[in-house]
Amino acid sequence: MANPVTLSYSRAIAERLTGHPIWRKPPGWQWSKRCASSSREPRSSALPPGLAQTIDPYAGLNLPGRDLTVAAEAIMPGRSSQVRTRGKQMPMSFAGRFSGRSAVITGGASGIGLAVAQRIVDEGGRVSVWDRDPTQIEQAKTVVPGLHGVTVDVADAAGVDIAAARTIEALGGVDILVTSAAITGPNMTTWSYSAEDWQRVIDININGVFYCNKALVPHMLDRNYGRIVNIASIAGKEGNPNASAYSTSKAAVIGLTKSLGKELAKTKVTVNCVTPAAVRTAIFKQMRQEHIDFMLSKIPMARFGEVEEVAALICWIASEECSFTTAAVFDVSGGRATY
Ligand SMILES: NC(=O)c1ccc[n+]([C@@H]2O[C@H](COP(=O)([O-])OP(=O)(O)OC[C@H]3O[C@@H](n4cnc5c(N)ncnc54)[C@H](O)[C@@H]3O)[C@@H](O)[C@H]2O)c1
Repeated sequence: MANPVTLSYSRAIAERLTGHPIWRKPPGWQWSKRCASSSREPRSSALPPGLAQTIDPYAGLNLPGRDLTVAAEAIMPGRSSQVRTRGKQMPMSFAGRFSGRSAVITGGASGIGLAVAQRIVDEGGRVSVWDRDPTQIEQAKTVVPGLHGVTVDVADAAGVDIAAARTIEALGGVDILVTSAAITGPNMTTWSYSAEDWQRVIDININGVFYCNKALVPHMLDRNYGRIVNIASIAGKEGNPNASAYSTSKAAVIGLTKSLGKELAKTKVTVNCVTPAAVRTAIFKQMRQEHIDFMLSKIPMARFGEVEEVAALICWIASEECSFTTAAVFDVSGGRATY
């Protein structure tokens, strides 16, 4: 039986080769079901039940065997490794977008950071994930082959400098920095917060972003190129109740991005940030259910975002194509942001 993950990958190849869709809907399957479910649940990367058994993506094609690498090579000579493999089709025009580029993604072993890592690798780049969780880094390497990983707590300034040196040596340089590492802190009123909990959120979410930007900006200036994307949050714009440490920290990330972006505006290094609304990732485990419900209730699209949707925006900002925007804040909030 065909593997569902490789199926959509091979379907993209087969459709590109033939110029027309080559798969059939299984009995009873309607696209509207998938759309309806996506408004409530995170979309599964697996194809719908029954689809794998009913489709032969190579039916009627004279492909050189069933080796996917060979098939990919047929449509993108020299770039077969860049075909997206996670179950969703990558727009083919982006293949090679990050060729020759190297990226650091803090918190890249999970969630949004991992989705960005996947996409940059898919599109030809090299990625080093900096994460405090070594087990998670090893798991990420199985999802995205070829990842470089460094175990580091971004709240440790000296550790970040060491991570930067190790990464520059391993990858030969760093062109892109995406700061995704963060924690939420407990959901409670501001006056109930312990000083210790408050400090930990500030240390990771603000100081960690500062240390990583500080460590890599001089290197990017030396190379005369850089793209920095700091991940803030809609909470930093609007202030979520029962999340004041997190909201404060994300507002600070917006401020840091605007200041640093202006300092670097006459250079080839751009600095921008994104402000996602709620996206169902492991970070939800740190929040109370009432808080998650509150965040969903504030999103006009009435659904959570998906990591791929946030990664798509980040990857454009992190690309050469985003060249006339710096010190900016990009919304990805299902309509929640009002400014
Ligand atoms: N998921 C959401 O709803 C949402 C919404 C808005 C903004 N964001 C922001 O997006 C970013 C990514 O969040 P996510 O949803 O992917 O969360 P996640 O928990 O899936 O990923 C965060 C990663 O950061 C790592 N990390 C945490 N503290 C660290 C530290 N001190 N040093 C190094 N690594 C550390 C974790 O190990 C984890 O791998 C965060 O900045 C978060 O604030 C998330």
